[in-house]
Amino acid sequence: MLIEPLGHPGREFGAVIHDLRPEELRTEATIAMLNDALARYAVVGVRGMPLDDEAQLALADRFGPIHQSILDASRRRLADRRLNDVGNIDVKGNLKDATAPAYGDSNLLWHSDLTFLARPARITLLSARALPPEPPPTEYVDMRAAWDALPSDRKALLASLEVEHSVLVQRAKCGFTDFTDEERRQAPAVRHALVRQHPVSGRRSLYLSSSASHIAGWPLDQGRTLIEELLEHATQPAFLLSYAWHANDLLLWDNSVTMHRATPFESTEHRRELRWTAVVEAA
Ligand code: OGA
Ligand code: MN
Repeated sequence: MLIEPLGHPGREFGAVIHDLRPEELRTEATIAMLNDALARYAVVGVRGMPLDDEAQLALADRFGPIHQSILDASRRRLADRRLNDVGNIDVKGNLKDATAPAYGDSNLLWHSDLTFLARPARITLLSARALPPEPPPTEYVDMRAAWDALPSDRKALLASLEVEHSVLVQRAKCGFTDFTDEERRQAPAVRHALVRQHPVSGRRSLYLSSSASHIAGWPLDQGRTLIEELLEHATQPAFLLSYAWHANDLLLWDNSVTMHRATPFESTEHRRELRWTAVVEAA
């Protein structure tokens, strides 16, 4: 087993693990190694790790409680609510019609997973099941480095703020407003601290996402302006990692210290099919 750091030299952001055997995923030592790598590098690929749904869920289960989708069944292709479809496949299993606004389009916006829930995603596991010949990369930003780079008077202002997040705000940003009444009822806005401290590394980081609406207790406009400004700061090239997918990659990331986005990919020919599982924060 070998860990290859990715990204800007001297910055610990992104790594790929080589030569891990599938049966090793079941050992305590491997789970501890992956947790350590996530605390240090935040985005960790495992190369050459083909997983089926059962193996993916068994692995996710080792990290904590698994998120279950509350989406209406009519929007889901997969029966098991612990697994989501990522890529260009529609609910019927065909290539998506790229012209219709879809629920998953918001993956193109900078986000952290499930930030609109009281218990957001801590770790996401994404397993590549089918990739086109030139797979679009997934981009990440390091919200620890973004925090570190802020001037200290700015840090002092931000440290105690809370951000209001909503899935309705997030999806409206990419033209999707077609929620059922039941889905709206199940999606009340939630608040999360703007600045977090990682339980293992001790590093502080900004916590934002496309679901961020405004700052709790601030006039709406002022809060939105601050969020826009911080998103612009955090998504500078200096904090960016572009992850190049390989066949049978398994990618894990720590959502509490990163944002990510899909890069555009439309195809009438090639399937891009990945399986998503999220482990949520402890209650
Ligand atoms: C995700 C996601 C980006 C991509 O899986 O959570 O946002 O590149 N995916 O598909
Ligand atoms: Mn995502």
